[in-house]
Amino acid sequence: MAIHNILTLGDHILREKSQPVKKITPNILKLLDNLADTMYDAPGVGLAAPQIGVLKRVIVVDVGEGLIELINPEIIDKKGRTVEPEGCLSVPGALGEVPRSQFVTVKGLDRHGQEKEINAEGLLARALQHEIDHLDGIVFVDKVVRWLENKPEEL
Ligand code: NI
Repeated sequence: MAIHNILTLGDHILREKSQPVKKITPNILKLLDNLADTMYDAPGVGLAAPQIGVLKRVIVVDVGEGLIELINPEIIDKKGRTVEPEGCLSVPGALGEVPRSQFVTVKGLDRHGQEKEINAEGLLARALQHEIDHLDGIVFVDKVVRWLENKPEEL
């Protein structure tokens, strides 16, 4: 078990673009484990590698339907629009309404290097879009259309 500190808004790492994983090494497997441990400890429904200071395209998500680990995730299809409250472990206490696609198809690699395709809807679709945004230096606060709680002072 390794629980990491989660970087918070204002840390420049959160604004960097993460690099694709070229090879699934033991370090990448450890990263997946540490991300899941840190996410469950927080607790949260998703975590992206840059949030623990690692600029690699790796995410974990669990919206209550089991752990999803994805390496080099990409949204390959999206449909519909929904506006729902959203928060982020990197912006503790903040809550704002964010428009997202209602349905997404995401592809990526699992820990064995097998290509996965996930058809997601609702909260899972939202969590995947949120975590993939982190890999491009995008934080949900950039997309809030209405603040509900604790808008960060720096915005
Ligand atoms: Ni987040």
